[in-house]
Amino acid sequence: MTLENSPLDQADVEGFFSLVEKNIGIALDLSKTYLIQSRLSSVVTEHRFTNHASLLRFLITNPVGAIHWQAFEAMTTNETSFYRDSSPFEVLRVTIFPELFQKRREARELNIWSAASSTGQEPYSIAILLREHFPELIGWKICILATDFSEQALEKASLGIYNETEVQRGLTETQIQRHFKRLPNGHYEINPDLRSMVQYKKMNLIQDWPLMPKFDLILMRNVLIYFNQNTKAKILKRLHSQLSDASSYLILGSSESILFDQTYQIVQLDRVSYYQKKIY
Ligand SMILES: C[S@@+](CC[C@H](N)C(=O)[O-])C[C@H]1O[C@@H](n2cnc3c(N)ncnc32)[C@H](O)[C@@H]1O
Repeated sequence: MTLENSPLDQADVEGFFSLVEKNIGIALDLSKTYLIQSRLSSVVTEHRFTNHASLLRFLITNPVGAIHWQAFEAMTTNETSFYRDSSPFEVLRVTIFPELFQKRREARELNIWSAASSTGQEPYSIAILLREHFPELIGWKICILATDFSEQALEKASLGIYNETEVQRGLTETQIQRHFKRLPNGHYEINPDLRSMVQYKKMNLIQDWPLMPKFDLILMRNVLIYFNQNTKAKILKRLHSQLSDASSYLILGSSESILFDQTYQIVQLDRVSYYQKKIY
């Protein structure tokens, strides 16, 4: 059976894409039909559907359940890496963290949120950066919350185990040796002290948000790009109320920006833009 060649009914594709958007916010149009063939094969075989077309038919004619969530997860892009895009981490090291430590020196507490954290490289990069460059933080209460809707991504993130290619994407040899233990199978496990700085929680950005603390720093990188304008605007509004105050920071992905929300002010530093609550 060649799964790749099963013809897809256009109405079923549209029906499935609208289910994806309704449940996880990711907006797909017919130009992305190829993703069904390339990403859903494992769901087709695991649940013994005849082909992709019969899986789609099942998905659009049944109430949303476990197979749907598996399919939604398969349609997302989990691409990430340690110190992804590097410049924001440089701005964090040189400007944002020193400013935050100064402002929060009385409370000695910092809440950081990596939203849509995928397999954990982003929150662990923050933990590594803090550990390497800010030894004066010993004694501070630092919480890094990392959330994603994908259970698979969260499971990998909370294990903190990466293969050689993954650790080599963004980390130096010295960092790998200092912060990871090499396992007998050649994979690398993050050290427990860094692991314990990050808490993982399942969270769907387009559903109700759980009660969370206010954050001094939020990273929401490379996820808004998949949402439509309306969803993006709603999430930015909620993020605004999740920032502690006007001295808190929001960092988006390098190709993402806030154009229409007047409640944020944009700060441009080197090639990095970050956002803060506007003071009126
Ligand atoms: C491309 S990754 C970005 C990872 C990381 N922030 C980075 O920039 O390297 C996008 C992540 O967004 C997650 N995602 C997509 N839709 C989501 C939603 N509605 N709620 C929560 N996470 C979502 C995906 O599961 C995926 O892990």
